[in-house]
Amino acid sequence: MNNKVLIVYFSHEGEAYAGGKIVTLKIGNTRAAAQMIEKMTGADIFRIETVKPYPYSHMETVTIAQAEQKEDVRPELKGNDINVEGYDTIILGYPNWWGTMPMPVFTFLESHDFFGKTILPLCTHEGSGMGRSDADIKAVCPGAKVGRGLAITGSKVNKAEKTIEEWLSSAGLL
Ligand SMILES: Cc1cc2nc3c(=O)[nH]c(=O)nc-3n(C[C@H](O)[C@H](O)[C@H](O)COP(=O)(O)O)c2cc1C
Repeated sequence: MNNKVLIVYFSHEGEAYAGGKIVTLKIGNTRAAAQMIEKMTGADIFRIETVKPYPYSHMETVTIAQAEQKEDVRPELKGNDINVEGYDTIILGYPNWWGTMPMPVFTFLESHDFFGKTILPLCTHEGSGMGRSDADIKAVCPGAKVGRGLAITGSKVNKAEKTIEEWLSSAGLL
């Protein structure tokens, strides 16, 4: 069967907390993982971006993200015109923000129809793994099959190539 794959990801660039200290990321951890997958699979790739960007500062981003989650907001997306209809499998990359996906990923998932499609979650984190994101994806994507996800420690993403390759292989994508 012809399995058409789309990589969709959200990633924050600027300051990040990694291994106990603040570092500066020119390429976000999730973006680095998504780009590795793009290279390995040749799949199409789409970045989720908000109209109002998150700040450079880690602490400010943490505060905003916490408020957005508490208020259950759906931040407006910039260029959310991707048509997911033609794809069978969506690899969904996001950082763990306060135990689940960043709220813009909820905006994205709720504004497209994933019925009958397979979603493979790829979560980068600094200790809490996928958190409750897996259950949250299932709740907002009725009729989608959510496959086995992969959680990667964000600060070790550049050493995760083999793990990612094995995950893609086990999902039948390589
Ligand atoms: C707002 C915010 C909240 C976060 N919350 C968590 C968390 O609850 N658990 C965790 O393990 N890591 C948490 N992190 C760390 C990120 O998940 C981790 O650094 C990730 O790799 C960042 O990916 P990115 O560079 O693609 O944005 C948080 C980071 C931010 C900015």
